[in-house]
Amino acid sequence: PAPGWSIDADVVVVGSGVAGLTAALRCTAAGLRTVVVTKARLDDGSTRWAQGGIAAALGEGDTPQQHLDDTLVAGAGLCDESAVRALVTEGPDAVRRLIATGAHFDTSPEGDLQLTREGGHHRRRIVHAGGDASGAEVSRALVEAVRAAAVRTIENALVLDLLTDAEGRTAGVTLHVMGEGQHDGVGAVRAPAVVLATGGMGQVFSATTNPSVSTGDGVALALRAGADISDLEFVQFHPTVLFLGSGAEGQQPLVSEAVRGEGAHLVDATGTRFMLGQHELAELAPRDIVAKAITRQMQLHGTEHVYLDARHFGAEMWETRFPTILAACRSHGIDPVTEPIPIFPAAHHASGGVRTDLRGRTTVPGLYACGEVACTGVHGANRLASNSLLEGLVFAERIAEDITATAYERTDPVIPEGTTLPLLAPESRLAIQRIMTSGAGVIRSAASLAEAAAHLEAIRADADAEAPDDRKPAVPGVEAWEATNLLCVARVLVAAARRREETRGCHWREDHPDREDAGWRRHLVVRLQPDRS
Ligand code: SIN
Repeated sequence: PAPGWSIDADVVVVGSGVAGLTAALRCTAAGLRTVVVTKARLDDGSTRWAQGGIAAALGEGDTPQQHLDDTLVAGAGLCDESAVRALVTEGPDAVRRLIATGAHFDTSPEGDLQLTREGGHHRRRIVHAGGDASGAEVSRALVEAVRAAAVRTIENALVLDLLTDAEGRTAGVTLHVMGEGQHDGVGAVRAPAVVLATGGMGQVFSATTNPSVSTGDGVALALRAGADISDLEFVQFHPTVLFLGSGAEGQQPLVSEAVRGEGAHLVDATGTRFMLGQHELAELAPRDIVAKAITRQMQLHGTEHVYLDARHFGAEMWETRFPTILAACRSHGIDPVTEPIPIFPAAHHASGGVRTDLRGRTTVPGLYACGEVACTGVHGANRLASNSLLEGLVFAERIAEDITATAYERTDPVIPEGTTLPLLAPESRLAIQRIMTSGAGVIRSAASLAEAAAHLEAIRADADAEAPDDRKPAVPGVEAWEATNLLCVARVLVAAARRREETRGCHWREDHPDREDAGWRRHLVVRLQPDRS
């Protein structure tokens, strides 16, 4: 829809997690007029839910090279080494700057940062806060800093599409604002630089650790704008999500990998540790390996979960080190101090996204992507635990530097007269999630993916068809846009998963069980014609 109002800025940042707020703070500090727009409230994204922490070579004897080695191994041959090098070498200072911004991480009585371990890391290198509430602390600190710096923010604003000028350069975004008073309805922020920091797309599956706002909006917008999208087939399923019963739907409670980092065991119904002998790191193998092993156990025993046993921590350690997880388990009638925790793998992180270079630039001039929405190349086929908050920090700083150093000129957007995109009814969301979980979840095959593709096409065809007299067209609003964006990313994800006929990282094809370096050590890149769904 054509915007009814517009405001001007030098930079618009879309999203308010670690990536978006860090970019906004750095751009503001460089004197750029910066506007942050976010779909819900400033702290409603995924960052707040992160438990484990931030990985960086801060410990004695640790080096960026060791962090790089672990990241490359987890990434299963598809990391971009120069991006990983930037991540691990700039990471320690980025964490120190976050601390200087106001984030408090857990320290020893001597004042040294406490470091934990997670899967795939050969040493302790993860800073954490409040025990297992790391993301909440990062979010608190950044939101406070953004408010203190008087950065302009627009909450409850769903960004719809990128605005471009006649040359195809970024000229701002259109957005739908709900209930914020002065700027309600569909409007535009005009700016020659746009930073997408909209987070992930976990809600494309039924059960996920992601909050309800993680609906792939940034990837869908970038697809419609004609940007390159890469690696969408690599969806990371977190091995240990609290099992609350059959048919879980929506956001589920995470049981941090740090619980295994501190010595918890994965056991089957008989109490046997099944990771022993499967990998040199046992329970701390990279996440894809653990998720697969759990899924195999579930198949073998015909169960919907296995167990995480950390009774040996004792009450005091549970209360001090993992208070959030302890409270979540107890609120569901499970006491980890006295019983093993039922867990299963659920969708957690998108390793792919909007393709960027080392400066965070996408293939559309003036459009940047940062954090989970981006595919910078640091994760390859499987992200190393606790590298995502770090990616948000490091690449947000790189983006702010690049925008500051580039003399972007404001140009006039070509104002769209309307959209040809059929909006889905909000109810489609549930159908898409079920289709994706059954056909494109932890285990995939040509048959399961073909079925998923056919069902998704049916939803699209239904939305495309002339609405019969008794069916009202979807009312434009957040739920309809979210469902539309979910369908858009689901279709591309399934198409990529069908094409990649191998098993690599978190893409597990049971009909192609081996990694095929000769044919498949490459990225799948998708680009649509602009303004297409
Ligand atoms: C966790 O705490 O297990 C999540 C860490 C991550 O996803 O990086």
